[in-house]
Amino acid sequence: MDALTQLARLNEECAAYFDDLYAPDRKVYVFGDGDARARVALVGEAPGEQETLLGKPFVGRAGKNLESFLAATGLRRAELYITNTVKFRPTRLSPTGRTVNRPPTREEIALFCPWLQREMGIVAPKWIVSLGNVPLRALTGKPLAIGSVHGQVLESELGAPLFALYHPASVLYNPKLREVYARDLEALREEMHFRRLI
Ligand code: URA
Repeated sequence: MDALTQLARLNEECAAYFDDLYAPDRKVYVFGDGDARARVALVGEAPGEQETLLGKPFVGRAGKNLESFLAATGLRRAELYITNTVKFRPTRLSPTGRTVNRPPTREEIALFCPWLQREMGIVAPKWIVSLGNVPLRALTGKPLAIGSVHGQVLESELGAPLFALYHPASVLYNPKLREVYARDLEALREEMHFRRLI
């Protein structure tokens, strides 16, 4: 069975599992996107509003920052596999009654971890880039903090090395990180070049 079919089956199984778990609440899932046998995989936190509307990861505001990632590495989006740790948009009601994003809970992350591991097992990338704390912890199985390990190559639980980047949204909210992020992207480009991934 090819990787695309395996992913489609996994996604169906995953949706059925969470539909059952959260019934009667119906979630809208946003599964991974891109080349199912990509050499490089990008793993984010959870989809936001735009991602949920369009059914693809990183197409909203945070996705715009992905463009700097692509520009800095010379990769094209079509060459990557892009996914999130948690596959639905975690929301809460704001004091004014609007539906807004919230960080995924520990429980949500723990429930999605085995699915992410199976997904990465199918894609089998040679190199994984984690965006922010949530995928960093989910993929290393360690309580690491992105502030201490950003820009470094770490071992993941999946056999492929993992490069830890800040989440693109944290750069939007904290402009002081912009320079750090640019340096990390440069380090990432060098590492990928060294490993002949670009
Ligand atoms: N942030 C993420 O972590 N993932 C998305 O898909 C969008 C924003």
